[in-house]
Amino acid sequence: MEILIKDIYPFFKDVMSSLNLDEQILSELLAPATTEGHADLAIPCHSLSKIMKRSPVDISEEIVSLVSDDILSIAKVSSKNGFVNISATNNYIETQISRIFKDERLGVVYDHSRTFVVDYSAPNVAKEMHVGHLRSTVIGDSIVRLLSFKGYTVYRENHIGDWGTPFGMLIEHLLDLGEDKAAKELGVGDLDSFYKQARSKFNTIDNFASRSRNRVVMLQGGDKETLRLWKILVSESMRYFNEVYSILGVLLSDSDIKGESSYHDLLPVVIDRLSKSNILVNSEGAEVVFPIKKWLNREGDEMPVIIRKGDGGYNYSATDLACIIDRTERLNCTDLIYVVGTPQKQHFEMVFDIAQMAGFLHEGHNATHVNFGSVLNQDGKILKSREGNTIKLVDLLSESISRAKEVISEKNPNLSINEKLDSAKMIGIGAVKYADLSTERTKDYVFDWDKMLSFEGNTAPYLQYAHARICSIFSKSDISSTSLYDSIFIIIDKEEELLAKRLLSFANIIEESIITFSPHKLCNYLHSLASSFASFYENCPVLKNDNKELIKSRLALCDLTGRTLKKGLELLGIDSPEKM
Ligand code: ARG
Repeated sequence: MEILIKDIYPFFKDVMSSLNLDEQILSELLAPATTEGHADLAIPCHSLSKIMKRSPVDISEEIVSLVSDDILSIAKVSSKNGFVNISATNNYIETQISRIFKDERLGVVYDHSRTFVVDYSAPNVAKEMHVGHLRSTVIGDSIVRLLSFKGYTVYRENHIGDWGTPFGMLIEHLLDLGEDKAAKELGVGDLDSFYKQARSKFNTIDNFASRSRNRVVMLQGGDKETLRLWKILVSESMRYFNEVYSILGVLLSDSDIKGESSYHDLLPVVIDRLSKSNILVNSEGAEVVFPIKKWLNREGDEMPVIIRKGDGGYNYSATDLACIIDRTERLNCTDLIYVVGTPQKQHFEMVFDIAQMAGFLHEGHNATHVNFGSVLNQDGKILKSREGNTIKLVDLLSESISRAKEVISEKNPNLSINEKLDSAKMIGIGAVKYADLSTERTKDYVFDWDKMLSFEGNTAPYLQYAHARICSIFSKSDISSTSLYDSIFIIIDKEEELLAKRLLSFANIIEESIITFSPHKLCNYLHSLASSFASFYENCPVLKNDNKELIKSRLALCDLTGRTLKKGLELLGIDSPEKM
Protein backbone atom coordinates (compact mmCIF):
# COMPACT_ATOMS: atom_id res chain seq x y z
CA MET A 1 0.00 0.00 0.00
CA GLU A 2 1.96 2.95 -1.38
CA ILE A 3 -0.59 5.37 0.01
CA LEU A 4 0.00 4.12 3.55
CA ILE A 5 3.76 4.59 3.15
CA LYS A 6 3.14 8.17 2.08
CA ASP A 7 0.82 8.88 5.00
CA ILE A 8 2.95 7.45 7.80
CA TYR A 9 6.30 8.57 6.42
CA PRO A 10 6.36 12.02 8.14
CA PHE A 11 5.90 10.40 11.57
CA PHE A 12 8.93 8.19 11.14
CA LYS A 13 10.92 10.97 9.57
CA ASP A 14 10.55 12.84 12.88
CA VAL A 15 11.68 9.76 14.79
CA MET A 16 14.75 9.47 12.58
CA SER A 17 15.75 13.03 13.25
CA SER A 18 15.34 12.63 17.00
CA LEU A 19 17.61 9.58 16.76
CA ASN A 20 20.06 11.57 14.64
CA LEU A 21 19.66 9.15 11.77
CA ASP A 22 19.68 10.09 8.13
CA GLU A 23 16.25 10.22 6.46
CA GLN A 24 17.71 8.20 3.59
CA ILE A 25 17.91 5.18 5.93
CA LEU A 26 14.18 5.36 6.47
CA SER A 27 13.34 5.36 2.79
CA GLU A 28 15.62 2.38 2.32
CA LEU A 29 14.21 0.34 5.20
CA LEU A 30 10.50 1.14 5.21
CA ALA A 31 8.81 -1.37 2.90
CA PRO A 32 5.81 -3.69 2.61
CA ALA A 33 6.02 -6.46 5.20
CA THR A 34 7.33 -9.65 3.67
CA THR A 35 4.56 -11.84 5.09
CA GLU A 36 1.13 -10.48 4.39
CA GLY A 37 -0.96 -10.80 7.56
CA HIS A 38 1.82 -9.86 9.99
CA ALA A 39 1.62 -6.20 9.18
CA ASP A 40 1.26 -3.97 6.14
CA LEU A 41 4.65 -2.33 6.40
CA ALA A 42 7.78 -3.01 8.38
CA ILE A 43 11.07 -1.37 9.26
CA PRO A 44 13.72 -4.03 9.85
CA CYS A 45 16.16 -2.59 12.39
CA HIS A 46 18.97 -5.15 12.05
CA SER A 47 21.15 -3.00 9.84
CA LEU A 48 20.81 -0.11 12.33
CA SER A 49 22.46 -2.21 14.99
CA LYS A 50 25.95 -1.42 13.70
CA ILE A 51 25.37 2.32 13.47
CA MET A 52 23.64 2.65 16.83
CA LYS A 53 25.66 -0.02 18.62
CA ARG A 54 22.55 -1.53 20.19
CA SER A 55 20.47 -4.61 19.58
CA PRO A 56 17.81 -4.52 16.83
CA VAL A 57 15.15 -5.35 19.44
CA ASP A 58 16.17 -2.36 21.51
CA ILE A 59 16.16 -0.07 18.52
CA SER A 60 12.76 -1.20 17.23
CA GLU A 61 11.27 -0.71 20.70
CA GLU A 62 12.70 2.75 20.96
CA ILE A 63 11.38 3.73 17.54
CA VAL A 64 7.91 2.57 18.54
CA SER A 65 8.07 4.58 21.78
CA LEU A 66 9.12 7.71 19.91
CA VAL A 67 6.37 7.74 17.27
CA SER A 68 3.80 10.43 17.92
CA ASP A 69 0.39 9.18 19.07
CA ASP A 70 -1.16 11.10 16.22
CA ILE A 71 -0.26 8.17 13.99
CA LEU A 72 -2.91 6.05 15.72
CA SER A 73 -5.70 7.31 13.48
CA ILE A 74 -3.74 5.90 10.55
CA ALA A 75 -1.90 2.85 11.80
CA LYS A 76 -1.05 0.59 14.71
CA VAL A 77 2.66 0.42 15.41
CA SER A 78 4.37 -2.37 17.32
CA SER A 79 7.73 -4.05 17.54
CA LYS A 80 8.72 -7.68 17.28
CA ASN A 81 12.06 -9.43 16.84
CA GLY A 82 13.81 -6.25 15.77
CA PHE A 83 11.11 -5.17 13.33
CA VAL A 84 8.84 -2.17 13.62
CA ASN A 85 5.49 -3.41 12.31
CA ILE A 86 2.96 -0.99 10.92
CA SER A 87 -0.64 -1.92 10.15
CA ALA A 88 -3.33 0.34 8.78
CA THR A 89 -6.28 0.81 11.11
CA ASN A 90 -9.70 -0.22 9.86
CA ASN A 91 -10.72 3.37 10.09
CA TYR A 92 -7.92 4.41 7.75
CA ILE A 93 -8.79 1.62 5.30
CA GLU A 94 -12.43 2.73 5.37
CA THR A 95 -11.49 6.30 4.50
CA GLN A 96 -9.14 5.27 1.71
CA ILE A 97 -11.55 2.79 0.21
CA SER A 98 -14.35 5.38 0.07
CA ARG A 99 -11.97 7.69 -1.77
CA ILE A 100 -11.12 5.04 -4.38
CA PHE A 101 -14.74 3.97 -4.59
CA LYS A 102 -15.74 7.42 -5.81
CA ASP A 103 -12.84 7.65 -8.22
CA GLU A 104 -13.50 6.50 -11.78
CA ARG A 105 -9.74 6.05 -12.21
CA LEU A 106 -9.61 3.75 -9.17
CA GLY A 107 -6.79 5.77 -7.67
CA VAL A 108 -4.55 5.88 -10.73
CA VAL A 109 -3.03 9.37 -11.02
CA TYR A 110 -3.16 10.97 -14.43
CA ASP A 111 0.13 11.91 -16.13
CA HIS A 112 0.42 13.57 -19.49
CA SER A 113 4.13 14.27 -19.48
CA ARG A 114 5.39 11.67 -21.94
CA THR A 115 4.80 10.66 -25.51
CA PHE A 116 5.25 7.02 -26.50
CA VAL A 117 5.48 5.16 -29.77
CA VAL A 118 4.67 1.51 -29.29
CA ASP A 119 5.95 -0.60 -32.19
CA TYR A 120 4.13 -3.91 -32.09
CA SER A 121 2.61 -6.80 -34.04
CA ALA A 122 4.65 -6.10 -37.21
CA PRO A 123 3.94 -9.22 -39.31
CA ASN A 124 5.52 -9.64 -42.71
CA VAL A 125 3.56 -9.23 -45.93
CA ALA A 126 2.78 -12.46 -47.76
CA LYS A 127 3.88 -14.55 -44.79
CA GLU A 128 1.72 -16.12 -42.10
CA MET A 129 1.80 -14.30 -38.78
CA HIS A 130 3.46 -16.70 -36.39
CA VAL A 131 2.86 -17.13 -32.67
CA GLY A 132 5.67 -14.63 -32.05
CA HIS A 133 3.58 -12.00 -33.85
CA LEU A 134 0.64 -13.09 -31.73
CA ARG A 135 2.68 -12.42 -28.57
CA SER A 136 3.85 -9.07 -29.85
CA THR A 137 0.27 -8.12 -30.74
CA VAL A 138 -1.20 -9.16 -27.40
CA ILE A 139 1.56 -7.75 -25.17
CA GLY A 140 1.93 -4.56 -27.22
CA ASP A 141 -1.78 -3.93 -27.14
CA SER A 142 -1.92 -4.26 -23.38
CA ILE A 143 1.03 -1.89 -22.99
CA VAL A 144 -0.75 0.64 -25.22
CA ARG A 145 -3.87 0.37 -23.07
CA LEU A 146 -1.92 0.78 -19.84
CA LEU A 147 0.00 3.82 -21.08
CA SER A 148 -3.10 5.48 -22.50
CA PHE A 149 -5.04 4.91 -19.28
CA LYS A 150 -2.23 6.55 -17.37
CA GLY A 151 -2.70 9.59 -19.58
CA TYR A 152 0.35 9.47 -21.82
CA THR A 153 0.13 10.25 -25.50
CA VAL A 154 0.55 6.97 -27.34
CA TYR A 155 1.16 6.30 -31.02
CA ARG A 156 0.65 2.74 -32.14
CA GLU A 157 2.88 1.73 -35.02
CA ASN A 158 2.59 -1.50 -36.94
CA HIS A 159 6.02 -1.81 -38.58
CA ILE A 160 4.97 -4.44 -41.11
CA GLY A 161 7.66 -6.06 -43.25
CA ASP A 162 6.53 -4.77 -46.63
CA TRP A 163 9.81 -4.06 -48.43
CA GLY A 164 13.01 -5.78 -49.45
CA THR A 165 14.37 -8.38 -51.84
CA PRO A 166 11.72 -11.12 -51.35
CA PHE A 167 9.19 -8.81 -53.01
CA GLY A 168 10.78 -9.42 -56.39
CA MET A 169 9.95 -13.12 -56.30
CA LEU A 170 6.57 -12.52 -54.64
CA ILE A 171 5.48 -10.14 -57.40
CA GLU A 172 6.69 -12.53 -60.14
CA HIS A 173 4.80 -15.37 -58.52
CA LEU A 174 1.70 -13.19 -58.36
CA LEU A 175 2.03 -12.56 -62.09
CA ASP A 176 2.45 -16.28 -62.81
CA LEU A 177 -0.65 -17.15 -60.83
CA GLY A 178 -2.71 -14.31 -62.21
CA GLU A 179 -3.75 -11.38 -60.06
CA ASP A 180 -7.19 -12.71 -59.19
CA LYS A 181 -6.07 -16.14 -58.16
CA ALA A 182 -3.17 -14.73 -56.17
CA ALA A 183 -5.42 -12.25 -54.39
CA LYS A 184 -7.76 -15.08 -53.49
CA GLU A 185 -4.99 -17.22 -52.02
CA LEU A 186 -3.66 -14.35 -49.96
CA GLY A 187 -7.05 -13.06 -48.94
CA VAL A 188 -8.09 -16.35 -47.34
CA GLY A 189 -4.88 -16.28 -45.40
CA ASP A 190 -2.96 -18.87 -47.38
CA LEU A 191 0.11 -16.71 -47.02
CA ASP A 192 2.59 -19.38 -46.15
CA SER A 193 1.99 -21.57 -49.16
CA PHE A 194 2.14 -18.50 -51.43
CA TYR A 195 5.51 -17.56 -49.96
CA LYS A 196 6.82 -21.09 -50.14
CA GLN A 197 5.79 -21.55 -53.78
CA ALA A 198 7.60 -18.33 -54.69
CA ARG A 199 10.68 -19.31 -52.73
CA SER A 200 10.85 -22.76 -54.29
CA LYS A 201 10.52 -21.37 -57.83
CA PHE A 202 13.24 -18.86 -57.00
CA ASN A 203 15.55 -21.66 -55.89
CA THR A 204 14.88 -24.02 -58.77
CA ILE A 205 13.95 -22.02 -61.88
CA ASP A 206 16.77 -19.85 -63.23
CA ASN A 207 14.63 -17.65 -65.34
CA PHE A 208 12.27 -17.03 -62.40
CA ALA A 209 15.19 -16.02 -60.20
CA SER A 210 16.49 -13.53 -62.74
CA ARG A 211 12.98 -12.12 -63.35
CA SER A 212 12.68 -11.69 -59.57
CA ARG A 213 15.96 -9.81 -59.35
CA ASN A 214 14.91 -7.48 -62.15
CA ARG A 215 11.61 -6.93 -60.43
CA VAL A 216 13.30 -5.78 -57.21
CA VAL A 217 15.22 -3.19 -59.19
CA MET A 218 11.97 -2.00 -60.78
CA LEU A 219 10.28 -1.88 -57.39
CA GLN A 220 13.05 0.19 -55.90
CA GLY A 221 13.12 2.39 -58.95
CA GLY A 222 9.47 3.23 -58.39
CA ASP A 223 8.11 1.58 -61.55
CA LYS A 224 4.37 2.30 -61.55
CA GLU A 225 3.09 -1.11 -62.65
CA THR A 226 5.42 -2.88 -60.21
CA LEU A 227 4.19 -0.69 -57.38
CA ARG A 228 0.61 -1.51 -58.31
CA LEU A 229 1.37 -5.24 -58.08
CA TRP A 230 3.23 -4.72 -54.82
CA LYS A 231 0.20 -2.94 -53.38
CA ILE A 232 -1.95 -5.98 -54.15
CA LEU A 233 0.37 -8.13 -52.07
CA VAL A 234 0.27 -5.64 -49.20
CA SER A 235 -3.44 -5.03 -49.18
CA GLU A 236 -4.42 -8.69 -49.54
CA SER A 237 -2.09 -9.63 -46.68
CA MET A 238 -3.44 -6.77 -44.59
CA ARG A 239 -6.92 -8.08 -45.19
CA TYR A 240 -5.88 -11.32 -43.52
CA PHE A 241 -3.99 -9.58 -40.69
CA ASN A 242 -7.01 -7.37 -40.03
CA GLU A 243 -9.17 -10.44 -39.72
CA VAL A 244 -6.84 -11.73 -37.00
CA TYR A 245 -6.84 -8.32 -35.28
CA SER A 246 -10.59 -8.14 -35.32
CA ILE A 247 -11.00 -11.62 -33.78
CA LEU A 248 -8.41 -10.70 -31.19
CA GLY A 249 -10.14 -7.39 -30.49
CA VAL A 250 -6.92 -5.37 -30.50
CA LEU A 251 -6.73 -1.61 -31.03
CA LEU A 252 -4.62 -1.78 -34.22
CA SER A 253 -6.24 -0.40 -37.34
CA ASP A 254 -5.15 0.54 -40.84
CA SER A 255 -4.14 4.00 -39.69
CA ASP A 256 -1.47 2.44 -37.46
CA ILE A 257 0.35 0.79 -40.36
CA LYS A 258 3.77 2.29 -40.77
CA GLY A 259 5.60 -0.41 -42.65
CA GLU A 260 9.24 -0.59 -43.66
CA SER A 261 8.38 0.88 -47.06
CA SER A 262 7.24 4.15 -45.52
CA TYR A 263 10.79 5.02 -44.45
CA HIS A 264 12.08 4.83 -47.98
CA ASP A 265 12.65 8.55 -48.44
CA LEU A 266 14.44 8.87 -45.14
CA LEU A 267 17.10 6.27 -45.96
CA PRO A 268 19.43 8.65 -47.84
CA VAL A 269 19.02 11.06 -44.91
CA VAL A 270 20.25 8.32 -42.57
CA ILE A 271 23.35 7.83 -44.72
CA ASP A 272 23.95 11.55 -44.90
CA ARG A 273 23.64 12.12 -41.17
CA LEU A 274 25.74 9.10 -40.23
CA SER A 275 28.48 10.28 -42.52
CA LYS A 276 28.29 13.83 -41.15
CA SER A 277 28.73 12.34 -37.67
CA ASN A 278 31.88 10.68 -39.02
CA ILE A 279 30.83 7.20 -38.02
CA LEU A 280 30.01 5.74 -41.42
CA VAL A 281 32.90 3.71 -42.82
CA ASN A 282 33.45 1.64 -45.91
CA SER A 283 33.97 -2.05 -45.33
CA GLU A 284 34.34 -4.43 -48.25
CA GLY A 285 32.25 -2.17 -50.45
CA ALA A 286 29.45 -1.72 -47.94
CA GLU A 287 28.76 1.33 -45.78
CA VAL A 288 28.82 0.29 -42.14
CA VAL A 289 29.00 1.62 -38.59
CA PHE A 290 30.88 0.04 -35.69
CA PRO A 291 28.78 0.53 -32.53
CA ILE A 292 30.57 1.85 -29.43
CA LYS A 293 29.63 -1.25 -27.51
CA LYS A 294 31.65 -3.85 -29.38
CA TRP A 295 30.06 -7.03 -30.71
CA LEU A 296 32.39 -9.85 -31.75
CA ASN A 297 31.63 -12.55 -34.29
CA ARG A 298 32.67 -16.20 -33.92
CA GLU A 299 36.14 -15.45 -35.20
CA GLY A 300 36.53 -12.79 -32.54
CA ASP A 301 36.34 -9.91 -35.03
CA GLU A 302 34.44 -6.75 -34.27
CA MET A 303 31.07 -6.74 -36.03
CA PRO A 304 29.77 -3.69 -37.85
CA VAL A 305 26.16 -2.88 -38.65
CA ILE A 306 25.65 -2.76 -42.38
CA ILE A 307 23.68 0.32 -43.33
CA ARG A 308 23.92 0.11 -47.11
CA LYS A 309 25.08 -2.99 -48.93
CA GLY A 310 27.56 -2.94 -51.80
CA ASP A 311 24.70 -3.19 -54.34
CA GLY A 312 23.13 -0.02 -52.94
CA GLY A 313 20.32 -1.82 -51.10
CA TYR A 314 19.50 -0.74 -47.56
CA ASN A 315 18.82 -3.27 -44.86
CA TYR A 316 16.63 -3.72 -41.78
CA SER A 317 18.91 -1.68 -39.50
CA ALA A 318 18.94 1.30 -41.86
CA THR A 319 15.14 1.30 -41.81
CA ASP A 320 15.10 1.15 -38.03
CA LEU A 321 17.44 4.13 -37.86
CA ALA A 322 15.15 6.09 -40.19
CA CYS A 323 12.29 5.03 -38.00
CA ILE A 324 14.00 6.50 -34.92
CA ILE A 325 14.50 9.84 -36.69
CA ASP A 326 10.84 9.85 -37.67
CA ARG A 327 9.60 9.00 -34.19
CA THR A 328 11.74 11.46 -32.30
CA GLU A 329 11.69 14.34 -34.78
CA ARG A 330 8.29 14.15 -36.49
CA LEU A 331 6.26 12.70 -33.63
CA ASN A 332 8.36 14.27 -30.86
CA CYS A 333 8.33 11.08 -28.86
CA THR A 334 10.13 10.78 -25.57
CA ASP A 335 9.74 7.01 -25.33
CA LEU A 336 10.22 4.44 -28.08
CA ILE A 337 8.98 0.97 -27.25
CA TYR A 338 9.64 -2.06 -29.44
CA VAL A 339 7.62 -5.15 -28.60
CA VAL A 340 9.66 -7.71 -30.50
CA GLY A 341 10.93 -11.22 -29.65
CA THR A 342 14.19 -11.81 -27.78
CA PRO A 343 16.07 -13.05 -30.92
CA GLN A 344 16.25 -9.40 -32.08
CA LYS A 345 17.94 -8.24 -28.88
CA GLN A 346 21.30 -7.68 -30.54
CA HIS A 347 19.73 -5.85 -33.48
CA PHE A 348 18.04 -3.32 -31.19
CA GLU A 349 21.05 -2.84 -28.94
CA MET A 350 23.21 -2.09 -31.97
CA VAL A 351 20.66 0.22 -33.57
CA PHE A 352 20.05 2.18 -30.34
CA ASP A 353 23.78 2.48 -29.87
CA ILE A 354 24.29 3.91 -33.36
CA ALA A 355 21.29 6.22 -32.93
CA GLN A 356 22.94 7.65 -29.82
CA MET A 357 26.31 8.00 -31.52
CA ALA A 358 24.65 9.92 -34.35
CA GLY A 359 22.56 12.05 -31.99
CA PHE A 360 19.18 10.71 -33.17
CA LEU A 361 18.57 9.67 -29.56
CA HIS A 362 19.70 11.77 -26.60
CA GLU A 363 19.22 12.00 -22.81
CA GLY A 364 15.60 13.04 -23.17
CA HIS A 365 14.74 9.78 -24.94
CA ASN A 366 14.17 6.27 -23.71
CA ALA A 367 14.37 3.55 -26.33
CA THR A 368 13.37 0.15 -24.98
CA HIS A 369 13.29 -3.25 -26.55
CA VAL A 370 10.39 -4.92 -24.74
CA ASN A 371 11.46 -8.44 -25.58
CA PHE A 372 9.58 -11.67 -25.06
CA GLY A 373 10.19 -15.42 -25.07
CA SER A 374 8.76 -18.14 -27.29
CA VAL A 375 5.52 -20.07 -27.25
CA LEU A 376 6.22 -23.77 -26.77
CA ASN A 377 4.19 -26.95 -27.20
CA GLN A 378 3.80 -29.53 -24.42
CA ASP A 379 7.12 -31.12 -25.44
CA GLY A 380 8.95 -27.88 -24.92
CA LYS A 381 9.46 -27.23 -28.65
CA ILE A 382 8.40 -24.13 -30.59
CA LEU A 383 4.65 -24.34 -31.22
CA LYS A 384 3.95 -25.48 -34.79
CA SER A 385 1.06 -27.14 -36.61
CA ARG A 386 0.89 -30.94 -36.72
CA GLU A 387 2.52 -30.87 -40.16
CA GLY A 388 5.37 -28.82 -38.76
CA ASN A 389 4.23 -25.59 -40.45
CA THR A 390 3.54 -22.21 -38.94
CA ILE A 391 0.17 -22.35 -37.21
CA LYS A 392 -2.49 -20.33 -38.95
CA LEU A 393 -3.58 -17.82 -36.33
CA VAL A 394 -7.23 -17.62 -37.40
CA ASP A 395 -7.46 -21.39 -36.95
CA LEU A 396 -5.90 -21.22 -33.52
CA LEU A 397 -8.28 -18.47 -32.41
CA SER A 398 -11.37 -20.17 -33.74
CA GLU A 399 -10.33 -23.38 -32.01
CA SER A 400 -10.12 -21.46 -28.77
CA ILE A 401 -13.61 -20.05 -29.23
CA SER A 402 -15.10 -23.45 -29.98
CA ARG A 403 -13.36 -25.03 -26.99
CA ALA A 404 -14.70 -22.19 -24.81
CA LYS A 405 -18.20 -22.87 -26.13
CA GLU A 406 -17.99 -26.46 -24.95
CA VAL A 407 -16.68 -25.43 -21.55
CA ILE A 408 -19.45 -22.92 -20.87
CA SER A 409 -22.22 -25.15 -22.25
CA GLU A 410 -21.20 -27.62 -19.59
CA LYS A 411 -20.79 -25.05 -16.84
CA ASN A 412 -23.94 -23.06 -17.48
CA PRO A 413 -26.44 -24.91 -19.69
CA ASN A 414 -29.12 -22.28 -18.97
CA LEU A 415 -27.52 -19.57 -21.09
CA SER A 416 -29.36 -18.71 -24.31
CA ILE A 417 -27.66 -19.55 -27.60
CA ASN A 418 -26.68 -15.92 -28.15
CA GLU A 419 -25.34 -15.54 -24.63
CA LYS A 420 -23.32 -18.69 -25.17
CA LEU A 421 -21.87 -17.42 -28.43
CA ASP A 422 -20.97 -14.02 -26.98
CA SER A 423 -19.40 -15.46 -23.86
CA ALA A 424 -17.54 -18.14 -25.85
CA LYS A 425 -15.83 -15.46 -27.88
CA MET A 426 -14.89 -13.41 -24.83
CA ILE A 427 -13.71 -16.45 -22.91
CA GLY A 428 -11.89 -18.16 -25.77
CA ILE A 429 -10.00 -15.07 -26.86
CA GLY A 430 -9.48 -13.92 -23.29
CA ALA A 431 -7.96 -17.30 -22.43
CA VAL A 432 -5.40 -17.15 -25.24
CA LYS A 433 -4.45 -13.56 -24.44
CA TYR A 434 -4.24 -14.12 -20.71
CA ALA A 435 -2.06 -17.24 -21.05
CA ASP A 436 0.33 -15.07 -22.99
CA LEU A 437 0.17 -12.01 -20.74
CA SER A 438 0.29 -13.76 -17.39
CA THR A 439 3.70 -15.30 -18.02
CA GLU A 440 6.60 -13.00 -17.30
CA ARG A 441 7.18 -11.80 -20.84
CA THR A 442 10.89 -12.61 -21.10
CA LYS A 443 10.17 -16.27 -20.34
CA ASP A 444 8.93 -18.93 -22.74
CA TYR A 445 5.51 -20.39 -22.01
CA VAL A 446 3.80 -23.62 -22.81
CA PHE A 447 0.62 -23.40 -24.82
CA ASP A 448 -1.88 -25.57 -22.96
CA TRP A 449 -5.58 -25.48 -23.90
CA ASP A 450 -6.83 -27.19 -20.74
CA LYS A 451 -4.90 -24.93 -18.45
CA MET A 452 -5.80 -21.67 -20.16
CA LEU A 453 -9.51 -22.50 -20.36
CA SER A 454 -9.76 -23.73 -16.78
CA PHE A 455 -11.98 -21.93 -14.30
CA GLU A 456 -9.40 -22.57 -11.57
CA GLY A 457 -6.02 -20.96 -11.12
CA ASN A 458 -4.42 -17.90 -12.65
CA THR A 459 -6.53 -17.87 -15.82
CA ALA A 460 -8.82 -15.47 -17.66
CA PRO A 461 -11.95 -17.60 -17.11
CA TYR A 462 -11.32 -17.52 -13.35
CA LEU A 463 -11.21 -13.72 -13.36
CA GLN A 464 -14.10 -13.37 -15.78
CA TYR A 465 -16.13 -15.74 -13.63
CA ALA A 466 -15.42 -13.68 -10.50
CA HIS A 467 -16.64 -10.60 -12.36
CA ALA A 468 -19.78 -12.34 -13.68
CA ARG A 469 -20.51 -13.58 -10.17
CA ILE A 470 -20.44 -10.01 -8.86
CA CYS A 471 -22.83 -8.96 -11.63
CA SER A 472 -25.17 -11.73 -10.56
CA ILE A 473 -25.07 -10.57 -6.92
CA PHE A 474 -26.43 -7.22 -8.09
CA SER A 475 -29.03 -8.81 -10.29
CA LYS A 476 -30.30 -10.70 -7.22
CA SER A 477 -30.37 -7.68 -4.91
CA ASP A 478 -32.81 -4.78 -5.13
CA ILE A 479 -29.99 -2.36 -4.40
CA SER A 480 -28.38 -1.03 -7.57
CA SER A 481 -24.69 -0.23 -7.75
CA THR A 482 -25.43 3.43 -8.54
CA SER A 483 -27.37 3.86 -5.29
CA LEU A 484 -24.22 2.90 -3.37
CA TYR A 485 -22.38 6.07 -4.23
CA ASP A 486 -22.46 7.47 -0.71
CA SER A 487 -22.03 4.21 1.15
CA ILE A 488 -20.10 4.27 4.35
CA PHE A 489 -17.58 1.49 4.45
CA ILE A 490 -17.51 -0.76 7.49
CA ILE A 491 -14.49 -3.05 7.63
CA ILE A 492 -14.89 -5.69 10.33
CA ASP A 493 -13.82 -9.18 9.28
CA LYS A 494 -10.32 -10.06 8.27
CA GLU A 495 -11.44 -11.23 4.82
CA GLU A 496 -12.99 -7.88 4.05
CA GLU A 497 -9.95 -6.13 5.39
CA LEU A 498 -7.71 -8.12 3.05
CA LEU A 499 -10.01 -7.52 0.10
CA ALA A 500 -10.09 -3.78 0.82
CA LYS A 501 -6.30 -3.60 1.07
CA ARG A 502 -5.90 -5.38 -2.24
CA LEU A 503 -8.34 -2.98 -3.84
CA LEU A 504 -6.22 -0.11 -2.55
CA SER A 505 -3.14 -1.52 -4.31
CA PHE A 506 -4.57 -1.27 -7.82
CA ALA A 507 -3.00 2.11 -8.64
CA ASN A 508 0.40 0.97 -7.49
CA ILE A 509 0.26 -2.21 -9.56
CA ILE A 510 -0.65 -0.21 -12.64
CA GLU A 511 2.42 1.98 -12.07
CA GLU A 512 4.65 -1.06 -11.66
CA SER A 513 3.26 -2.79 -14.72
CA ILE A 514 3.88 0.36 -16.75
CA ILE A 515 7.39 1.08 -15.50
CA THR A 516 8.56 -2.45 -16.29
CA PHE A 517 6.27 -2.99 -19.31
CA SER A 518 5.03 -6.10 -17.56
CA PRO A 519 1.36 -6.93 -17.96
CA HIS A 520 1.98 -10.14 -15.98
CA LYS A 521 2.18 -8.03 -12.81
CA LEU A 522 -1.34 -6.83 -13.42
CA CYS A 523 -2.41 -10.45 -14.09
CA ASN A 524 -0.95 -11.68 -10.81
CA TYR A 525 -2.62 -8.83 -8.97
CA LEU A 526 -6.04 -9.53 -10.52
CA HIS A 527 -5.69 -13.18 -9.61
CA SER A 528 -4.92 -12.33 -5.98
CA LEU A 529 -7.81 -9.85 -5.96
CA ALA A 530 -10.23 -12.48 -7.30
CA SER A 531 -9.00 -15.02 -4.72
CA SER A 532 -9.47 -12.60 -1.85
CA PHE A 533 -12.90 -11.80 -3.20
CA ALA A 534 -13.73 -15.52 -3.17
CA SER A 535 -12.80 -15.85 0.51
CA PHE A 536 -14.59 -12.62 1.38
CA TYR A 537 -17.73 -13.88 -0.32
CA GLU A 538 -17.50 -17.22 1.42
CA ASN A 539 -16.96 -15.79 4.90
CA CYS A 540 -18.76 -12.45 4.97
CA PRO A 541 -22.50 -12.69 4.25
CA VAL A 542 -23.42 -9.89 1.86
CA LEU A 543 -27.17 -9.96 1.28
CA LYS A 544 -28.16 -12.38 4.07
CA ASN A 545 -27.44 -9.89 6.79
CA ASP A 546 -29.57 -8.01 9.34
CA ASN A 547 -27.38 -4.95 9.40
CA LYS A 548 -28.52 -2.73 6.52
CA GLU A 549 -25.45 -0.53 6.66
CA LEU A 550 -23.21 -3.57 6.51
CA ILE A 551 -25.12 -4.91 3.50
CA LYS A 552 -24.50 -1.62 1.71
CA SER A 553 -20.84 -1.55 2.67
CA ARG A 554 -20.30 -5.10 1.49
CA LEU A 555 -22.21 -4.53 -1.72
CA ALA A 556 -20.02 -1.50 -2.32
CA LEU A 557 -16.95 -3.70 -1.84
CA CYS A 558 -18.39 -6.16 -4.37
CA ASP A 559 -19.05 -3.32 -6.77
CA LEU A 560 -15.55 -1.91 -6.43
CA THR A 561 -14.06 -5.39 -6.89
CA GLY A 562 -16.17 -5.88 -10.02
CA ARG A 563 -15.08 -2.52 -11.44
CA THR A 564 -11.44 -3.20 -10.64
CA LEU A 565 -11.55 -6.64 -12.28
CA LYS A 566 -13.28 -5.23 -15.32
CA LYS A 567 -10.85 -2.32 -15.66
CA GLY A 568 -7.87 -4.61 -15.10
CA LEU A 569 -9.08 -7.06 -17.73
CA GLU A 570 -9.82 -4.20 -20.11
CA LEU A 571 -6.23 -3.00 -19.72
CA LEU A 572 -5.15 -6.49 -20.74
CA GLY A 573 -7.47 -6.28 -23.74
CA ILE A 574 -9.87 -8.88 -22.29
CA ASP A 575 -13.67 -8.58 -22.14
CA SER A 576 -15.70 -9.29 -19.03
CA PRO A 577 -19.01 -11.02 -19.78
CA GLU A 578 -21.80 -10.30 -17.31
CA LYS A 579 -23.06 -13.85 -17.46
CA MET A 580 -21.18 -17.08 -17.94
N1 ARG B 1 8.69 -7.59 -39.11
C1 ARG B 1 9.65 -7.93 -38.12
C2 ARG B 1 9.61 -9.43 -37.85
O1 ARG B 1 8.65 -10.09 -38.18
C3 ARG B 1 9.44 -7.21 -36.82
C4 ARG B 1 9.58 -5.72 -36.86
C5 ARG B 1 9.75 -5.11 -35.51
N2 ARG B 1 9.85 -3.70 -35.51
C6 ARG B 1 10.93 -2.98 -35.86
N3 ARG B 1 10.88 -1.67 -35.81
N4 ARG B 1 12.05 -3.58 -36.26
O2 ARG B 1 10.56 -9.96 -37.29
